[in-house]
Amino acid sequence: MYVADDKRYDSMQYRRSGRSGIKLPAISLGLWHNFGGVDNFENSRAMLRRAFDLGITHFDLANNYGPPYGSAEETFGQILKKDFLPHRDELIISTKAGWDMWPGPYGNLGSRKNLLASLDQSLKRMGLEYVDIFYHHRPDPDTPMEESMGALDTAVRSGRALYAGISAYDAKQTSEAVKILRDLGTPCLIHQPKYSMFVRDPEQGLFDVLEKEGVGAIVFSPLAQGLLSDRYLKGIPSDSRAARDFFLKKKDIGEATLAKVRALHEIAGQRGQTLAEMAVAWVLRDPRITSALVGTSKVSQVDDNVAALKNLKFSAEELRKIDDVLAGK
Ligand SMILES: NC(=O)c1ccc[n+]([C@@H]2O[C@H](COP(=O)([O-])OP(=O)(O)OC[C@H]3O[C@@H](n4cnc5c(N)ncnc54)[C@H](OP(=O)(O)O)[C@@H]3O)[C@@H](O)[C@H]2O)c1
Repeated sequence: MYVADDKRYDSMQYRRSGRSGIKLPAISLGLWHNFGGVDNFENSRAMLRRAFDLGITHFDLANNYGPPYGSAEETFGQILKKDFLPHRDELIISTKAGWDMWPGPYGNLGSRKNLLASLDQSLKRMGLEYVDIFYHHRPDPDTPMEESMGALDTAVRSGRALYAGISAYDAKQTSEAVKILRDLGTPCLIHQPKYSMFVRDPEQGLFDVLEKEGVGAIVFSPLAQGLLSDRYLKGIPSDSRAARDFFLKKKDIGEATLAKVRALHEIAGQRGQTLAEMAVAWVLRDPRITSALVGTSKVSQVDDNVAALKNLKFSAEELRKIDDVLAGK
C-alpha cells in the first residue's frame, strides 16, 4: 500500500497561477510519454508516487496521450484508484482536447461537439467526476473562437472542470480568447506554451499578454524533450526518446546542437547543477512562469528535475553566457 511521504510539502515551491486563487508546484509532471498502454505500468506508478512525495501536486494529461490514444488517462485512472484517491483534493489534474482523437469530423480541433464529448471520454477513462483544468489543446482556425471558448465555459459551469486553460495559442489569439472567457464569466486560469532555452517564442509577446491579463503560464518541454540534459552527450541511448525517432528526431541531434548542449552542460556544472536542473531553473527564472511542466522516463529523472529548485538564481553574467551559447557565439 502506498503511504504518501508526510514531508511532501516541506521543500516544493508553489507559485500562483496569474491572478487566480490557484497555486501550482514550480515543477509539474506531464504524462505525454511513458504512461501509455505500451509502457511499464509499475514504472509509471513509481514516477507518480515519487513526484507526489516530492510535492508535485499537478499532473498533466490529454485525451490522446499514450500510445494508444487514451491509454495514459487509463493508466493514470488506475494509479489514482490504487494510490491517490485519499489525496484527490491535494491534486490538480488537467486534460485537453483539440488534437486528433477519434475518426470522423468530430474527433479533432475546436468544435463544441469535439471538446465536450472528449472531456466526457477523459473523465470516464480516469474515473473522475471532474478535472481541475480543461484545456483547448490548440487553436482551430476554422471554428469561431466563441464556440471553442463557449465549450470551455460549459465544461466549467456543468462541473466537469474547475478551471479553463488554453495551449499553443499565440499572443494575439490569447488576448482574444482571454477576453471571450472573461465575458463569459469563466476566466482563463492558465496558458500552456512550449518554452525552453531552445524554444523562446513566447518571449516575443505571449508572456507580456499573460502578465497583463493575469493568466498563469505552465511551460511544456522545458528540457526540449531531453535534449537539454546529459542524455545525448555520448550518442543516442537505446531507451531514449530520440531512439524512437518520432517526436524527437535523430536528425535534430546534429553537431551544431550538440556543441550548444556541451557548452550549456559546462555552465550548468559551474553552477553545481546537471544540465537538466539548469534547464528547469532557467525557465523558472522568470516570475511570470507558474510551473515548469516536465516529462520523465524514470524515477531518477523526477529527483533530478526537482533538485533544480536548489538553485533558481542566475547572475547577469551566467544569463549572458547562456544567451551567447544559444546564439552560437
Ligand atoms: N500542450 C501541448 O501541446 C504539449 C505538447 C507537448 C508536451 N506537453 C506537456 O508537457 C509535458 C512535458 O513534455 P516533454 O516530455 O516533452 O518535456 P521535457 O521535460 O522537455 O522532456 C522529457 C524527456 O526528457 C528526458 N528527461 C527528463 N528529465 C531528465 C533528466 N533529469 N535527465 C535526463 N533526461 C531527462 C526524458 O527523456 P527520455 O525518455 O529519453 O529518458 C523525458 O522523457 C508532457 O508530458 C505534456 O504533459 C504539452
